[in-house]
Amino acid sequence: MQIIRSIAQLRAWRKTAGRLAFVPTMGNLHAGHLALVEAARQHADKVVVSIFVNRLQFGQGEDFDAYPRTFEADCAKLEAAGVDVLFFPDERELYPRIKQDFNVEPPHIQNELCGAFRPGHFRGVATVVSKLFNIVQADVACFGKKDFQQLHVIRAMVDDLNMPIEIVPVDTGRADDGLALSSRNGYLSAEERAEAPRLYRHLSAIRDALLAGDNRYAVLEKAAADDLAAHGWRVDYIEVRQADTLEVAHAGEPRLVVLAAARLGRTRLIDNIEVTR
Ligand code: PAJ
Repeated sequence: MQIIRSIAQLRAWRKTAGRLAFVPTMGNLHAGHLALVEAARQHADKVVVSIFVNRLQFGQGEDFDAYPRTFEADCAKLEAAGVDVLFFPDERELYPRIKQDFNVEPPHIQNELCGAFRPGHFRGVATVVSKLFNIVQADVACFGKKDFQQLHVIRAMVDDLNMPIEIVPVDTGRADDGLALSSRNGYLSAEERAEAPRLYRHLSAIRDALLAGDNRYAVLEKAAADDLAAHGWRVDYIEVRQADTLEVAHAGEPRLVVLAAARLGRTRLIDNIEVTR
């Protein structure tokens, strides 16, 4: 595996690469990320993974400084997964003027769900992903459904701005007890880790109710949020939405997604489940 830190070198390599798949990450890689790499390999001759902790998508008081940086272990995992190139730019390479002057501004969805609690987050994601797309020039890019709203924003951006890249969604990788794999799970204490799967259990219970024909979205949402709060969580949101548009769902909607974000101690966890009925 080649490790490339400069944009110029990456561009030169890309010209030789044939059909190319790209997996953008912030590192601290786990099996969820590696499933993206596996999907990428099935879509192209060569695979590029990027590791870049993007300051632009972290708000004031969020965990940019604390975000786990585990370069050596990440390299070993990517090497074993058969990745061709790791793109590992530093901040000066991607943000040479420190401040990013031009930004990609997502539509109103950037202020809803996670966006309501993380102002500017999706703008920071859309901006860095479009920069990375312009640098890597891949044919395909893989994104996890774990970050369902992020996947939605990226697909909408690619569509609206006619970016010549295909977005491949990949199912959420989970621990045996259902907890969605996340770099932030490492922040959990042993006690919190034991409590954490409750979020997925509630999403599953709402899915089952929806599949049984229940359309009382607000009732289902509130019951789950109340139970989480009773177990020490601070719930940002738990909502049933239309799966393709992320708009508020009407009763009887066949394509739904249940999305949630909640905090256990200092750790913010997100998860979601799609429901087709
Ligand atoms: P990061 O959180 O490192 O995630 C990188 C990719 O891995 C994203 O597409 C994310 O959805 C996916 N992923 C994370 N956990 C997953 C899981 N349990 N199952 C499946 N896929 C999972 O998302 C980002 O980084 C950044 O916002 C980024 C897109 C790199 C832009 O900075």
